[in-house]
Amino acid sequence: MKSICLVGFMGSGKTTIGKELAKQLHIDFYDTDVEIEAWRKMSIPQIFEKEGEEYFRQYEAEILRKLPTNYAIIATGGGVVERKENRNWIKESLLGVYLKPTFDIISNRLTDDKSRPLWNKQEEEKRELFIRRIPLYEDCVKISIDIKTESTVKETVNTILNS
Ligand code: S3P
Repeated sequence: MKSICLVGFMGSGKTTIGKELAKQLHIDFYDTDVEIEAWRKMSIPQIFEKEGEEYFRQYEAEILRKLPTNYAIIATGGGVVERKENRNWIKESLLGVYLKPTFDIISNRLTDDKSRPLWNKQEEEKRELFIRRIPLYEDCVKISIDIKTESTVKETVNTILNS
């Protein structure tokens, strides 16, 4: 079984859904953000502040390639799809799954979230980023799942398992 790679915008539920999927399938769970923080010994806001987004993207690309391509669940950061090399890797070596809530669902979930540097922006900028990334996520996945306000974690996990 190819590793399942969850992609989607910040706040789409990749970590929560990924952990539950891993639990049900009895396989390991990885989160690229957590791996980067452990490796660089800095939080993501610190990396963005001290080194900048380009360095963060480099770390993200390196970590993604080191994670198992079989029998694991991988939750990625929302911007992993910014690099074509990552989209190609997901397409070729992993099973990409896109969690796709509306912008309004995300906005409600992430009110005042300071742990995500790219969310700490004006509303218009966040909306533009959300829209610009949709085709990038779609480019690298086999499965897209619409997340509704009423979708529960269990339901979403079952939808993935039955896809
Ligand atoms: C980012 C998303 C974050 C994290 C970083 C950049 C992005 O991960 O990787 O803040 O560019 O969308 P989550 O999607 O888990 O919030």
